[in-house]
Amino acid sequence: MATGVLATRPGVMEDPGERGRFGEYGGLYVPESLVAACREVEAAFREARTDPAFRESLAESLALHVGRPTPLTPARRLSAELGVTLLLKREDLAHTGSHKINNVLGQALLALRMGRTRLIAETGAGQHGVAVATAAALLGLPATVFMGERDVERQGLNVFRMRMLGTEVVPVGTGSRTLKDATSEAMRHWVADTEEAYYCVGSVIGPNPYPWMVREFQRVIGDEAREQCAGALPAAVPDYVVACVGGGSNAAGTFAGFVGTSARLIGVEAEGGAGAARGSLGVLHGFRSLFLQDDHGQITEAHSIAAGLDYPGVGPEHAHLRDLGRARYVTVSDEEVVDAAVRLARAEGIVPALESAHAVAWVIRAARTGELPPGATVLLTLSGRGDKDISTLKELV
Ligand SMILES: Cc1ncc(COP(=O)(O)O)c(C=O)c1O
Repeated sequence: MATGVLATRPGVMEDPGERGRFGEYGGLYVPESLVAACREVEAAFREARTDPAFRESLAESLALHVGRPTPLTPARRLSAELGVTLLLKREDLAHTGSHKINNVLGQALLALRMGRTRLIAETGAGQHGVAVATAAALLGLPATVFMGERDVERQGLNVFRMRMLGTEVVPVGTGSRTLKDATSEAMRHWVADTEEAYYCVGSVIGPNPYPWMVREFQRVIGDEAREQCAGALPAAVPDYVVACVGGGSNAAGTFAGFVGTSARLIGVEAEGGAGAARGSLGVLHGFRSLFLQDDHGQITEAHSIAAGLDYPGVGPEHAHLRDLGRARYVTVSDEEVVDAAVRLARAEGIVPALESAHAVAWVIRAARTGELPPGATVLLTLSGRGDKDISTLKELV
């Protein structure tokens, strides 16, 4: 059972304090009406995370409903092809098929503790929405999930799964009709009903305390992986820790387990959604961070073959880790991602989510160019499984 859940550890990735600051990023940039709601969430989380009863019920839910700990699988054939030792942290094997469920169970238990009677959420790829729908069914709470119309089209399987679980899915037709617009709509909806509704954010984005809280709920990935690597690698710690970055929750959770070690942390973004690698300072969705913007400071549209990565910004802690030089953010192209998904499928029998295939694509490229020295050890978080992407892949493979 995941007993160390929410345990505090000193280091770079600490509590960002009441201002919710990671260096110059983060904060609480919301309308007056949401300030009190965010403060309430923060107070409830601060109390819950040190309450043994809350930690125990979260650890139990993660074990019984999610299937934690997820395995660490050596990718033997791909490792031999690439000349490195590649270990996969298998969040694709978590219930509902991605890491999103870790965070959602935490927030849904918090919502119950706060006496909230319904959940609202945004979703891009639909994995966060499915996790919310699952937790809502499990805890007997109604849920409403906002999703861009474009994502509704390309993630039909997940839309059906949410509806099957009894959740209302609301397509959002504004702007680029993707995650950014779904997030704006969910926030608007929350403003109108902060008394009853709990807003369950899906990544390390949004106003304080969400970036911090979501990372704390996701650090179970990194903590487990650290322990598993200690058993699997002669040096105990891998040379590289690699994860894909949309808003950045699976990467933040993974990095949290290794930030105090010698491992090099690599976040892999989509070429067209590279908030950390190519963004500039701005404010959106209640937080200050790096966003893709034009010369006038207007947020520009992100694009990625992976619906979960076409967010135009990045979580504030990633922006800070980048500034500190503690983590590096790189990009890969859609073509590299599709090739990587096929290569992993054929070498290891694992069809990854297109989001996760970004991390695989970087490892393949870095091994080819020598950036990953021969014999390097690499931990890669496979954030989700590829079932939801089969119709996209069918067109391309
Ligand atoms: C499988 C999978 N991986 C990664 C992501 C990106 O989110 P994050 O950067 O918060 O981990 C998503 C988002 O939907 C996803 O579904």
